[in-house]
Amino acid sequence: MSIKPFIMDHPLIQHKLTLLRDKNTGSKEFRELVNEIATLICYEASRDLPLEEVEIETPMGPAVTKVLSGRKLAFVPILRAGMGMLDGVLALIPAAKVGHIGLYRDEETAIPVEYYCKLPSDIAERDVILLDPMLATGGSAIDAITQIKARGCKNIKFMCIIAAPEGLEAVGNAHPDVQIYCASLDKCLNDKKYILPGLGDAGDRIYGTK
Ligand code: PRP
Ligand code: URA
Repeated sequence: MSIKPFIMDHPLIQHKLTLLRDKNTGSKEFRELVNEIATLICYEASRDLPLEEVEIETPMGPAVTKVLSGRKLAFVPILRAGMGMLDGVLALIPAAKVGHIGLYRDEETAIPVEYYCKLPSDIAERDVILLDPMLATGGSAIDAITQIKARGCKNIKFMCIIAAPEGLEAVGNAHPDVQIYCASLDKCLNDKKYILPGLGDAGDRIYGTK
């Protein structure tokens, strides 16, 4: 059974998402917006991080307060476009380790092709947050999650900016244990498997390659 996605409908995110979708937004601003939205989604995706109590001295005297407990986290961007979210999430959790998974969609079939995988050696002991701005057919996310699970990871979240219903359903069926966070659930895919209304090709807009 699939888990309901967490859709971040906060006004700040929705405003930034409109700027991101606009075809007149250039690469520099696009990159900034992707990182800002990633930071805001990460705030929610990290809500269940465990805390532990510590004793400290404030200027007023002793106090028992909370800090993040030692559970380890890794961010794994899916290349290329997922890299656009990395600085944004590291701004909140700078101590996390980072892995990389390289995938691109075949232009004819939209089936993901794997070309790179480098993960922290202790990835099996870490909670993982996968990063990719676009969840379209779900093929890339399913493949990346499968690769990470094959290395022993049990607690995986998937953070994207725009999801299509088709992709959500596919990931939910293949990996029902993975919680998905997004800023928008869009309408559908077109016949080339691009998200409508979407924002176009995220990688090309981040890197100015088209
Ligand atoms: C885009 C996007 C996702 C994938 C989503 O990457 O960043 O990885 O498509 O589509 P899916 O859900 O149908 O698999 P793309 O393949 O264009 O590669 P790029 O980031 O290197 O441009
Ligand atoms: N990948 C993108 O970058 N955009 C889409 O709309 C679909 C897949």
